[in-house]
Amino acid sequence: MSRALILGAKSAIAQALARRLAEEGWDLVLAARQSGQLEPFAADLRLRTGREVRLWEFEVLEGGQVEGLAARVAGECGPFELGVLVFGYLGVQRRAEVDRAELARILHTNFTGAALVLSELAGYLEGKGGPGGLIGISSVAGDRGRQSNYAYGAAKGGLSLFLQGLRNRLASSPVHVLTVKPGFVDTPMTRGLEGLFLVASPEKVAGDILRAYKKKKDILYTPWFWRYIMYFIKNIPEGIFKRLKL
Ligand SMILES: NC(=O)c1ccc[n+]([C@@H]2O[C@H](COP(=O)([O-])OP(=O)(O)OC[C@H]3O[C@@H](n4cnc5c(N)ncnc54)[C@H](OP(=O)(O)O)[C@@H]3O)[C@@H](O)[C@H]2O)c1
Repeated sequence: MSRALILGAKSAIAQALARRLAEEGWDLVLAARQSGQLEPFAADLRLRTGREVRLWEFEVLEGGQVEGLAARVAGECGPFELGVLVFGYLGVQRRAEVDRAELARILHTNFTGAALVLSELAGYLEGKGGPGGLIGISSVAGDRGRQSNYAYGAAKGGLSLFLQGLRNRLASSPVHVLTVKPGFVDTPMTRGLEGLFLVASPEKVAGDILRAYKKKKDILYTPWFWRYIMYFIKNIPEGIFKRLKL
């Protein structure tokens, strides 16, 4: 029997993924802020799949909740083989330019906090032995700095590099690391934002993630065409790129 720990489990993408994992026989630990709000969702999953679904209180900006996280979850809920880092904070770029607290929240949630959590999970999975995995949800926004969201983009870019390094470190172990770079996804994070295009559903993204994880892919752009969109964007010469209103 396999157990997955999903961090940021109130996210629309996390819930679509949780449904798919439970349907495929995984027990789950759903970690989130105000995790009690997930009880109806967890009850529905238990009823429909017969899997064990536990809730875990988790706020990444509280260091005490991050330190020793993996061992505490394993101690209370049982050993787990898969850690999925989904939480993220888009924030408001224009506010982050003048409000250091907003900038710090964007950077700490998406990068430093995420990196500390990943270190916890990697150490646990490596020490536990046997097959395991880490899935980290980064973003295409991390592929190039743009004026409209460079605080979030820089943090996600840092997260992508951290995941890449972790994958390199764990390559000779049975722990696989998958970096996920979604394009626009229809979730509360993007609702009401202008200028979105080619918006995917959380279910489509969750299906892509699970398929990529099973195939032991290293980096997933989801939907697939974002790989080519970002290839084009990354290759625009800086002298031209800096003048674009992106
Ligand atoms: N939607 C997109 O277009 C898109 C594109 C690329 C990448 N992504 C990434 O995909 C992931 C999932 O996002 P989503 O689109 O599903 O958006 P979402 O529904 O807004 O999910 C984000 C989740 O992160 C949690 N979170 C934020 N700050 C946290 C903190 N300090 N501690 C613990 N949890 C925290 C939120 O918890 P609460 O529910 O308690 O607020 C929320 O459930 C994120 O990493 C996001 O950056 C999204």
